[in-house]
Amino acid sequence: MRFPVDFAWGAATAAYQVEGATGEDGRGESIWDRFAATPGKIANGDDASVACDTYHRYREDVLLMRDLGLNAFRFSISWSRIVPDGRGWPNPAGLDFYDRLVDRLLESGIEPFATLYHWDLPQALEDRGGWPSRDTVEAFCEYVEIVASRLGDRVTHWITQNEPWVISWLGYGYGEHAPGRTSEADAVAAAHHVLLAHGRAVEVIRREAPGAEVGITLDLIPMHPLTGSEADAAASRVEDGTRNRWFLEPVLRGTYPADVLPRFEPLLPFAWDEDLCTIGAPIDLLGVNYYRRHIVRAAEDGTTPVVVHPTGVELTEMGWEVYPEGLHELLVGLREWDTPPLYVTENGAAFPDTRTNGNVEDPARTAYLESHLDAISRAIADGAPVHGYFVWSLLDNFEWARGFEKRFGIVYVDYETLERVPKASFRWYRDFIAAQRSAAATQA
Ligand code: FCB
Repeated sequence: MRFPVDFAWGAATAAYQVEGATGEDGRGESIWDRFAATPGKIANGDDASVACDTYHRYREDVLLMRDLGLNAFRFSISWSRIVPDGRGWPNPAGLDFYDRLVDRLLESGIEPFATLYHWDLPQALEDRGGWPSRDTVEAFCEYVEIVASRLGDRVTHWITQNEPWVISWLGYGYGEHAPGRTSEADAVAAAHHVLLAHGRAVEVIRREAPGAEVGITLDLIPMHPLTGSEADAAASRVEDGTRNRWFLEPVLRGTYPADVLPRFEPLLPFAWDEDLCTIGAPIDLLGVNYYRRHIVRAAEDGTTPVVVHPTGVELTEMGWEVYPEGLHELLVGLREWDTPPLYVTENGAAFPDTRTNGNVEDPARTAYLESHLDAISRAIADGAPVHGYFVWSLLDNFEWARGFEKRFGIVYVDYETLERVPKASFRWYRDFIAAQRSAAATQA
């Protein structure tokens, strides 16, 4: 495998999944606190009030990153730590926390990649309409300005939004995520406002952190028809349209895909087309989260897409197919879109890890990471402009509706003691990074 000499070797986390300390130092309530407190929403009734306790243990976590030899770390900022009521005066203690984290990363030679929104909307804003309301976009701009004016002198990579499809559809359409609404109209309006918030945030970052690179992270899923039938091919294209192109096209080209628009246009907010120019503002990087492909067939009506549950193939504990070739396909396919530099901002797998004699052996995760890095290396050789890779995740953490049951970390977290135990995959990744670095240096 070959990677560029200045490749970003990273790992990723998100605020709500690792920080804990949800009631400390003036942090406000977020939609995930409310959702987790609602019976039946999270597996085993878990909540993230302690999680990995990264709020107090970030120094230890940065030491783990140093041991790994990372030169990049992707984390997210908790909006409700910064603006507890969603609007109004910022909370100094919240800003101080990220300030210390950023300094600690930089002292350790690790470039911070800050995600501004990884799903934890202040509850106060949800109470006033949430993402389906345009006012949330204004509130987001205020928050981004506060954060960027404080950290913009040191944070040079910004990601505005993480996975707009998940925010809007899982949160507002299907109700599996916070805030748990089940309305197609809300999902479509939310998606539009999340995209608009991205475009507006790009403007704010350009102003507050000149010279910084800014972009968005999309969850892109290669769609493969189940059979060679005309109907399955059409269904697969529909799924690709709503799930991938509905986000990719406005961000990269400033238009909504013509084949999907007739379905969603009646649900888009008033004067939506006037926002497209903002949404499509030039960006410096595109984050891609990749976990799996989808196999799609047409429902009995002949058109509605149905995602087929994979069988007879290797699955992770999430029930997701292990399919590294999809990452190669995706990255190479993005060449057609004439993208800015790409970063794989998340990639990884959950397996049922256990600790035996103090160790966690996770060969399936190591194999997963290795095969996906191989796919990236081949995509780079085929001309895909991939500039970095972030393992999901540095730590086992709160896997949203699945709670603590699903472990994605290359570091095991004992949730009783909060002890961190590097898994075998951690050592593998550390050695892999070191070997790639010395190979790249020799070639250079
Ligand atoms: C992604 C999320 C991330 C994590 C992984 C497994 O969709 O961005 O927070 O939950 O899935």
